[in-house]
Amino acid sequence: MIRPAISSDYPAIRAVVRHAFAQDDEANLVEQLRADGDALVELVSATDIALRGHILYSPLKIERDGEILSAAALAPVSVLPAFQRAGLGKALIEAGNAACADLGLSAIIVLGHPDYYPRFGFSAAAAESLQAPFSGPAFMALELRPDALKAGGRVRYAKAFGV
Ligand SMILES: CC(C)(COP(=O)(O)OP(=O)(O)OC[C@H]1O[C@@H](n2cnc3c(N)ncnc32)[C@H](O)[C@@H]1OP(=O)(O)O)[C@@H](O)C(=O)NCCC(=O)NCCS
Repeated sequence: MIRPAISSDYPAIRAVVRHAFAQDDEANLVEQLRADGDALVELVSATDIALRGHILYSPLKIERDGEILSAAALAPVSVLPAFQRAGLGKALIEAGNAACADLGLSAIIVLGHPDYYPRFGFSAAAAESLQAPFSGPAFMALELRPDALKAGGRVRYAKAFGV
């Protein structure tokens, strides 16, 4: 089951993220984003007794002449190693992207593996117009509104990313 994260999930989310990445950095990032009020969409993959996966989207602003687009940064997404390759990551990303679309956001940005995210509609080409701290094939975007990113803009990540 995919459902929104609630506060009683937080210790288990920390464990899931730490195990998925085999380090603390991403779990710390999740907690800092929450502390800053920047957990825009946060979902878990849960059974009756345990969490197996987690995804978080934070607000991302795209500034350009006379307007600021509201978008989201997808990071991080985590599935416990024992449950990977069973479609949980896909289910989390599809549900999270749909929640971002429901919020009326213009786009979602991700820095991730170029072989994985294109299956959800992300592409480096869609992100090419953006001025951002990242570039190259791992920096990808998904437009939730047609041609939302065509005119480019400067990307502002949530504070916790420190970029
Ligand atoms: C990335 C991750 C969330 C995917 O979760 P998952 O439940 O295994 O994903 P799914 O079952 O939906 O999809 C599995 C597919 O994704 C591919 N895949 C998973 N991680 C990948 C990666 N880093 N690069 C390329 N492909 C990847 C697998 O090869 C598999 O492909 P296949 O279906 O053709 O065999 C999970 O592997 C994970 O937690 N990894 C460690 C943390 C991480 O790297 N997160 C992403 C960066 S923010």
